[in-house]
Amino acid sequence: MPSLQTTSLRIADNRLFILDQQALPQEKRWLSADTVDELVGHIHALRVRGAPLIGLSASLLLALLAERGANRDELAMALETLRAARPTAVNLMNNLDRMKQALAQEEYAQTLMAEALHLIEEDKQLCDNIAQAGSSLVKAGSRLLTHCNTGGLATAGVGTALGVIALAHQQGKVANVWVDETRPLLQGGRLTAWELGELGVPYQLITDSMAASLMAKGQVDAVWVGADRIAANGDVANKIGTYSLAVLAKFHNVPFYVAAPQTTLDPHCPNGDAIPIEQRSQAEVTGVSGSFGAVQWAPTDAQVYNPAFDVTPAALISAWVLDSGIVTPADVANGIFQPG
Ligand code: MRU
Repeated sequence: MPSLQTTSLRIADNRLFILDQQALPQEKRWLSADTVDELVGHIHALRVRGAPLIGLSASLLLALLAERGANRDELAMALETLRAARPTAVNLMNNLDRMKQALAQEEYAQTLMAEALHLIEEDKQLCDNIAQAGSSLVKAGSRLLTHCNTGGLATAGVGTALGVIALAHQQGKVANVWVDETRPLLQGGRLTAWELGELGVPYQLITDSMAASLMAKGQVDAVWVGADRIAANGDVANKIGTYSLAVLAKFHNVPFYVAAPQTTLDPHCPNGDAIPIEQRSQAEVTGVSGSFGAVQWAPTDAQVYNPAFDVTPAALISAWVLDSGIVTPADVANGIFQPG
């Protein structure tokens, strides 16, 4: 296996390493992922996270296991375990479907490796294409609002919604980015803030509940978010809190854009109701933990509801910005996301 380095994935000495996204931004720590159990543990803990990245990391590990001599049956089992690591982001399933086809080939070890590396290169290209298409929608002097983290940390390339924002910034069109902290796991406050800082993009961190008053004051020109799954009718699953932003944007006449690669499309999922939503642990809501330690503020017997994602109906989305270009509500009504 040739060496490989992206913002958050690394192959060195035939081993997979992931940048620990729970330790950022306080610490830049690389962790090994040598076994399926180890990688699934990292995925569950969101040490490796973001729809494209979980699919890419799973594909790379599978290729490395094949290179280390795992047989076809062992690889098939590993593939199914990885596929079940998280339920909502369809990129994981889409990438592993491609790896399954590679596994069916005669020279499967070589084919798996070639396919995993191809998925990485492809994702970089998809991100660049999304950034190109999306930046054409950003007007000069824009104050943009984003939620969760959709940058280089979550992909192999420049990111999706954050890639659009970064390119629009290079083009001199971004006055400010409002970064939702993104409770409960603070992907915005920890990761997007860090990435925008590294890129030199001006930003201000806000708590999720501040978006409404900013929109009411006319301080938000557009909302840009990513996606974990896009259903055939255009409904979008993304980080919890995305739906409320879309409702707010509609009420305040603020354009609401979803940026995603083709690997996020699920034409076989008819609508948002059919998207499985991951439920996560109570501890994420009763307090907060990180490299700084753990704090619990809720009563120890507090009951909790903690879905990791919500569904934004297509009717609230101004455009879907894909690697293939800008998809309008009329395109969606004409069935552009329906099975071909
Ligand atoms: O739970 P996470 O941090 O994996 O959720 C990530 C998101 O919801 C992102 O917006 C989405 O995966 C797109 S990343 C390019």
